[in-house]
Amino acid sequence: MPTKKAKPSQPSAARAVLVLHGPNLNMLGVREPGIYGHATLASIDSDLATLAGQLGLSVTCRQSNHEGQLVDWIQGARPGFVGILINPAAYTHTSVAVRDAIAATGLPTVEVHLSNIHAREAFRHHSYSAAVCVGQIAGFGPESYLLGLRALASRLG
Ligand code: DQA
Repeated sequence: MPTKKAKPSQPSAARAVLVLHGPNLNMLGVREPGIYGHATLASIDSDLATLAGQLGLSVTCRQSNHEGQLVDWIQGARPGFVGILINPAAYTHTSVAVRDAIAATGLPTVEVHLSNIHAREAFRHHSYSAAVCVGQIAGFGPESYLLGLRALASRLG
């Protein structure tokens, strides 16, 4: 019987995670450093890319100050991305549209916050999006993003 030739091994493409940052997060580093610290968005994205590589993932990081843009990106996450890591920032507390977009994609999504929103003003205690996410991580500064990516990787298996 003829033996089958082994297929040349292909490097498996890293599974891609979409990282979304909401309004005002482009101001990190100069924005209320007493609350949000001194790390810039660029440094957070760079640390995420490094960790993603270690987890066998890749990240595509985007920031917008516009609710509709975030909704468009969430809607467009399929089929290219396997999950979403999102800091909806102020839209956490106001946006049914972002919540509905996350629910519509059905992609596993983890919500993160730099600050502990539950220890701040009452209007920050409620998140519209958390209920449609796998979970929420808040209060660890930039580390929240890294913990969130690890949590998403664990969920993805
Ligand atoms: C934030 C918390 C929100 O309440 C706030 O509007 C932000 C940032 C955080 O990462 O701590 O913009 O999402």
